Amino acid sequence: MSSTPTLTFEVNRSKVRTPAAERERLLADPGFGRIFTEHMVRISWTADRGWHGAALIPYAPLTLDPGTSVLHYAQAVFEGLKAFRQGGGGVAVFRPDRHAVRFRNSARRLALPELPEEAFLEAIDVLLAADHEWVPSAAEHSLYLRPMMFASEVTLAVHPAVNVTFLLIASPSGSYFPRGVKPVSVWLSEDFSRAAPGGTGEAKTGGNYAGGLLAQAQASAQGCDQVVWLDSRDHRWIEEMGGMNLCFVYGRGNQARLMTPALTGTLLPGVTRDSLLTIGSDLGYATEEGRISVDEWRHGCEDGSLTEVFACGTAAVITPVAAVKSARGAWTVGDGGAGEVSMRLRRALIDIQRGAALDPHEWLYHVRVSD
Ligand code: COI
Repeated sequence: MSSTPTLTFEVNRSKVRTPAAERERLLADPGFGRIFTEHMVRISWTADRGWHGAALIPYAPLTLDPGTSVLHYAQAVFEGLKAFRQGGGGVAVFRPDRHAVRFRNSARRLALPELPEEAFLEAIDVLLAADHEWVPSAAEHSLYLRPMMFASEVTLAVHPAVNVTFLLIASPSGSYFPRGVKPVSVWLSEDFSRAAPGGTGEAKTGGNYAGGLLAQAQASAQGCDQVVWLDSRDHRWIEEMGGMNLCFVYGRGNQARLMTPALTGTLLPGVTRDSLLTIGSDLGYATEEGRISVDEWRHGCEDGSLTEVFACGTAAVITPVAAVKSARGAWTVGDGGAGEVSMRLRRALIDIQRGAALDPHEWLYHVRVSD
């Protein structure tokens, strides 16, 4: 049993545990998001009782009535954050408070109830107390935590659900992209939009991803790894890449300047994006939230002023973007390899996450894992 000021978590541990040798075998090559730990956290919400029924339970498939609202109207939000094995053997989660705030913001936009931050953190504590042995220690590996909330009311009527379920699951993970940090190629989508002003673009909700899949398929058909989204009005300004933010590097060495598209309301406010702006300025780079058009991207690469571009997100950390293609042409970023500034930022971020460098902004949340 453990509790927050408002919720008490019941703990029901699984009677069947994965043998250590089997767990180590799975952790050796986890891939991304395909294996899951032995427990999950579930919390219920109803309009009349609020949040209640918090529990750690064995990881298991859900049974859903076919009339469950989320299956029809997609009233759901999620988060993605990571727990890292620390040098000394402990476990720390990267910026869970920031993810808790974004989760609440996403929920508000989707007319879902807001989970209090202390319940979000307690859910993580409770899950990691049971499953901390699933936090990998290999470099580049981590335990990806996936909090989610969905309309579990059984109804075909379209209205904000009066019955909602929160779940937290965890997945030991390696590189998001199977090729690791190898640079990716991108297709500029001029036919489709990811988000429009007033829409749900800044919320972390499945519909934003579902709506992007056709454009992603189009990118693949064009021989590109990922799709890049433009603004929905002018189809001119760069917004995001797939499910990740983008950052543009001008100049070189200590004179480099980082520019990431400003949060206009249609972009996801990435926690990695925010962290890299801070780390970038700690490392002495000029940093800026601005905007860049397709033509400026191309001309910057042609005249050499734009030296590196990378995508950033929790899952893939930093991934260099090396080649750009659109219906109107193609070009290469820098020398087509991973840029020096991108890799320096990546190292600095990973070192903080793994406790190999100081954590001046107190981003690590050290969890109690002895049980
Ligand atoms: C993340 O970077 O955590 C994401 O949310 C991307 C994705 C796996 C949905």
